[in-house]
Amino acid sequence: MNWLTLNPKLNDWAHKKVWIIGASSGIGAELARQLLAKGAHVAVSARRQEPLHALACVYPDTCTVLPMDATRPEHWQACFQQLKDTIHAIDLVVFCAADYKAVRPWELKADDVKKIIEINLNAVYYGLEILVPYFIERGVGGIALVSSVASYMGLPKATVYGPSKAALSNLAEILYAELRDRGIGVYLINPGFVKTRLTASNDFHMPALLTTEQAAHQIVQGFERGKFEIHFPKRFSLGLKLVRLLPQRARLAMLRSLARSA
Ligand SMILES: NC(=O)c1ccc[n+]([C@@H]2O[C@H](COP(=O)([O-])OP(=O)(O)OC[C@H]3O[C@@H](n4cnc5c(N)ncnc54)[C@H](OP(=O)(O)O)[C@@H]3O)[C@@H](O)[C@H]2O)c1
Repeated sequence: MNWLTLNPKLNDWAHKKVWIIGASSGIGAELARQLLAKGAHVAVSARRQEPLHALACVYPDTCTVLPMDATRPEHWQACFQQLKDTIHAIDLVVFCAADYKAVRPWELKADDVKKIIEINLNAVYYGLEILVPYFIERGVGGIALVSSVASYMGLPKATVYGPSKAALSNLAEILYAELRDRGIGVYLINPGFVKTRLTASNDFHMPALLTTEQAAHQIVQGFERGKFEIHFPKRFSLGLKLVRLLPQRARLAMLRSLARSA
């Protein structure tokens, strides 16, 4: 590792065991497919079992199906045990499961808030409770949190989703600071718009929209380069990063104007 590389470079996929939570569709499913094609052993989790089994049919020797509801701590425990009993080790965990609903502040409903925060944030803690001690004991491991460029600033309609992702980005920095010296890599993934089930109901133009193939490719490339933050597409994410650097008065004026036109 040189001083420019923040994380271990994950290259040797044929010797890696990866657990992806949220692998039944969208970015997680495509990431699973690309890593399987590179020879990794991939355990795939989500609530819908059919798509998980369909993937395992293509890679019967290297794909393990672990159906779970990530909002239930006992499912984490059971799946983790099953993984240890079957594939014996986990090198990288990708927290990809999430829910999204466009919510403006005057449309808030407690049930929506609970549902979104439970899967987008609390479920990550349920997984970390089990995985962090395991990785610390092994002295090696990787934790990848799929956040979003929506974590960068207060975007319209993201009243619940945005803060859940901002919390994940904060958490990734804490994990990096606390765990990197113990041999654990922490990867923060910030996608822009990707064409998936999650964005299917968006009724606005999504700039720089990517396919799941393009998104998963960017993620794999980020892992291979040992990045901490894997953000894409750059033409969109870098623009948002620039806006974040504006003085607060200018940034808030821009966000107000965005909210008016949303
Ligand atoms: N699409 C975008 O534009 C975009 C942009 C930025 C960030 N992201 C992030 O990318 C990640 C993947 O989203 P996506 O766009 O690919 O959407 P997606 O196709 O809807 O994928 C979401 C995944 O999460 C799983 N999931 C949801 N609730 C779950 C639960 N309780 N337990 C276990 N799994 C659960 C879903 O599986 P089941 O329903 O089968 O459980 C599905 O596999 C998310 O973290 C999302 O926030 C997406």
